[in-house]
Amino acid sequence: MNTCTASAPGKIILFGEHAVVYGQPALAAPVHDLRATAHVAPGSPGSGLSIEAPDLDQRHALAGAAAHALALTAQLVLERLGEGEPDAHITVQSDIPVAGGLGSGAAVSAALARALAAYLGRPLENAELSALVYETEKVHHGTPSGIDNTVVCYGMPVYFVRGHEPEVFHPGKPFDLLIGDTGMPSPTHETVGAVREAWQREPNMYEATFTEIGAVVEVARSAIERGQTARLGPLMAENQALLRRLRVSSPELEQLIEAALAAGAGGAKLSGGGEGGNMIALVEPETVARVRKELYRAGARRVIHTLVR
Ligand code: PMV
Repeated sequence: MNTCTASAPGKIILFGEHAVVYGQPALAAPVHDLRATAHVAPGSPGSGLSIEAPDLDQRHALAGAAAHALALTAQLVLERLGEGEPDAHITVQSDIPVAGGLGSGAAVSAALARALAAYLGRPLENAELSALVYETEKVHHGTPSGIDNTVVCYGMPVYFVRGHEPEVFHPGKPFDLLIGDTGMPSPTHETVGAVREAWQREPNMYEATFTEIGAVVEVARSAIERGQTARLGPLMAENQALLRRLRVSSPELEQLIEAALAAGAGGAKLSGGGEGGNMIALVEPETVARVRKELYRAGARRVIHTLVR
C-alpha cells in the first residue's frame, strides 16, 4: 500500500462563543497557518496499527488504547468504513498550540481520520469526517457545541447553529487578524461548566445575554459577507462586553485586548472558551507590526497573523 498524508487547520471563533452552546449562532474561521498533519505508512505484516504523535508526546498501539482520542479516532474510522485493523503506522505532527482554544484536538483527529481513510482507499466527505471528529471531541470537552470539528473539517469560515447543518460562508473581502496567546490554559469544559452553573442561578440575565450575542453574530456575518470590515471592530467590542458579563474574560485577556486597541487595532475580543487561551485583534497592513509589538509587550506568549478569507 502507498503512504498517505492529510492535514487539517487550526481554528478561531470570530463571534458567538459560549452562547453557541445554548442554541445561538456563532462564526468561526480556519487558521490555515497552523496545521495538524498525519502520515500513514504500511507496517510489517502482523504489526497492527500504531499511532505516534511526538509533539504531543504520545505513542499508542490501537489495541487497548481506545480511551485515548487518537486511538479512538482510528477505531471510529475503521468502524465507519467496516474495515479491519491494517498493518500500518500513523505519525501525527501539529504546530497548533494545545489547550488554547485553537482547535488542536479537533485538527489532530481530523488529519488522522482523513489520512487513514484515504490510506484505505475510502476518503471521507467533510460532513462524515466532522461527525466522526465530534465523537472524539466529546472525549476532550464533554458536550461541545460541535463548532470546532465543523470549521476544522470544512476548512472554511462557518456559520454554526447547534443541531443544524453548518453553513460555510465567504468574506466579501479578506481581513487580517492577529491571534494573541495569553500563555494561560483555557480549560473549555471548566469555563463552559462555570457558565452553565451561573446560567442556572441567573437564567434570565444569562439568556438575555446569549440572545444579545446571537444578534451580534447575525450582524457580523452580514458585515463580513459584504466586505464591510470597518464594521467588525465595534461588533467585536460589543461581543467582548457581553463575554465579560458572562464572566469568561480574565485580567490577562483584558490586558492584551487593551494593548491591541491602544496600538491601533480596529477591534479586539477573546476567542474561544476564555479565562486564558487566545484573543483576536482586527488589524490592517499598516497597523499589524505595531499591534504585534504591543501584544508581546503586554505579555503575549505568541502572536500569530492570519488572513480570514
Ligand atoms: O474550544 P474553544 O476554547 O475554542 O471553545 C469552544 C467555544 C465554546 O463556545 C466556549 C464551547 C463550545 O463547545 O462551543
